[in-house]
Amino acid sequence: MIILKVNNLSIEEISKINRVVVDEISFSLKKGESLGIVGESGSGKTVTAMSLLNLLSDDLRVSRGTVEFLGMNICKSSEKELEKIRGNQFSIIFQNPISSLNPLMKVGKQILEVIKKHQNLNKKEELNRTFEVLSDVGFKDNFLEIFNKYPHELSGGQGQRIGIAMAIANNPKIIIADEPTTALDKDIECQILKLLKDIQKKYNTSIILISHDLEVIKNFTDNSLIMYFGQIVESGPTKEIFSSPYHHYTKGLLDSLPRNFKKGEPIKVMKGGIPDINDRIEGCFFSPRCPMVTEFCKKNRVDYTLTEGNSRGIRCINPLKEIDYEK
Ligand SMILES: Nc1ncnc2c1ncn2[C@@H]1O[C@H](COP(=O)(O)OP(=O)(O)OP(=O)(O)O)[C@@H](O)[C@H]1O
Ligand SMILES: [Mg+2]
Repeated sequence: MIILKVNNLSIEEISKINRVVVDEISFSLKKGESLGIVGESGSGKTVTAMSLLNLLSDDLRVSRGTVEFLGMNICKSSEKELEKIRGNQFSIIFQNPISSLNPLMKVGKQILEVIKKHQNLNKKEELNRTFEVLSDVGFKDNFLEIFNKYPHELSGGQGQRIGIAMAIANNPKIIIADEPTTALDKDIECQILKLLKDIQKKYNTSIILISHDLEVIKNFTDNSLIMYFGQIVESGPTKEIFSSPYHHYTKGLLDSLPRNFKKGEPIKVMKGGIPDINDRIEGCFFSPRCPMVTEFCKKNRVDYTLTEGNSRGIRCINPLKEIDYEK
């Protein structure tokens, strides 16, 4: 069952006409599915995530398209309607959750407040649910100790677990995790990702995981979107994309992974960098960096096209493999 559907969504900066930050992206998310969004810094991952909950900052706006969550158009919903779903049916985990907590309130109380806001439980049930989520995020023997801590007393890993506890407290249908492990050590990162996977299984939650780390996306997600300069350039089942990419950008990202370096061969680094947002590129946005660029690519915009059967999407006229497009 599809619970989130994004159709041709474009986001622009209000002050500068035509400065598009996210450009006609479309994707859907099924119940229990995990979707990875990957791309270099500035590719539009966070802006996309924020728009899904209608949390764009004041200087940005949706200029086109829709975000449908269980049939409701998020872009057109009132603040009152959105308040009902944010942190309840649809929640978000940030890179540094400690900074989004109230520094003056014990963390247990903060989880309790989130539960109180959205669930109709008595005091004992609220407390039991708080202990249950603390246990879900790995505080099994020490949940009372953690309950009574202030945010500044938490380590980075504990803080991220509390961020996850807040996000799952009301058993949401979707969790967005925006770079949830970027600030953590590698071993803690693995624990947190495993935890997210366990929670996804226990509650059959859909997860959107945003990362610039391809290994994280590969190990964690069912489907992926590869973003470049505000556009989706490739999408599909993660396994397929990683074993057989269509887009030259995806291939470039994969080739530059340390695990793909072969001894004795030069390190492959993609040439160039992501364009400046003020750059006006006439043709395909990736054309200045593409190893297979043609004169056509330099001059013409390239549409995002679905393959036959709709399993994969691609924005390239000269892909790495022959594709049967949707008729
Ligand atoms: N409030 C804003 N006003 C104007 N432009 C913005 C705003 N927020 C982001 N942008 C621009 O939108 C583009 C996408 O930014 P975004 O934060 O979504 O990138 P990202 O893919 O999440 O990058 P990172 O990996 O660094 O987190 C960038 O060019 C950024 O400068
Ligand atoms: Mg970001």
